Amino acid sequence: MPPIVRRGTPDDAARITEFAARVFRDAFEADNRPEDVVAHLAATFTPERQSAELRDPSWTTLLMEEAAEPAGYAQLRQGPAPACVTGPNPVELVRFYVDRRWHGRGNAQSLMASVLVAASEMGETLWLSVWERNARAMAFYRKSGFVDVGSKIFRLGGDAQSDRVVARSLRD
Ligand SMILES: CC(C)(COP(=O)(O)OP(=O)(O)OC[C@H]1O[C@@H](n2cnc3c(N)ncnc32)[C@H](O)[C@@H]1OP(=O)(O)O)[C@@H](O)C(=O)NCCC(=O)NCCS
Repeated sequence: MPPIVRRGTPDDAARITEFAARVFRDAFEADNRPEDVVAHLAATFTPERQSAELRDPSWTTLLMEEAAEPAGYAQLRQGPAPACVTGPNPVELVRFYVDRRWHGRGNAQSLMASVLVAASEMGETLWLSVWERNARAMAFYRKSGFVDVGSKIFRLGGDAQSDRVVARSLRD
């Protein structure tokens, strides 16, 4: 069955929390200190926080499902961007995760296509930050039309990491 992408609702808070924590661990546990991962998960992926984000009108959550199971999700937020993002009306792609079973199979492209449609309803410039050591994600964003515009610090628990900031226009 092909994946479907739908808008997340507050009823999805528990399901997104569980899925998000799992895919975050799959992606980053091996390359980070366990205490930093635990601290990040406890602060970020709770049903309360997910529920608040799902209710916040400045956020949009997209949930990709394959045979009714979560296969990926993306979260967009309207708001201020770092100075290196110079395009008009910035929208941040805060999170973009595909279950590792579906990596390299086109699902990330489907989710990105939905992200671009949703983001164009929210603003004119899409940006995100990605860990400088996440070469696969950087390659994916490059082929999705993003260009490197700068850097920013991301705090994973007690670790200050250097992220690349990438951006693309939503007018094209
Ligand atoms: C980032 C992500 C969404 C990309 O989806 P995907 O299905 O893996 O992407 P694709 O396979 O279409 O594209 C990745 C590209 O990187 C390449 N690649 C794979 N491993 C790589 C590596 N170690 N270093 C550099 N490039 C790599 C692939 O060959 C592919 O390029 P190609 O299509 O030109 O061959 C997915 O890997 C993911 O969810 N990862 C875990 C969570 C994550 O890192 N999210 C991003 C947070 S900012």
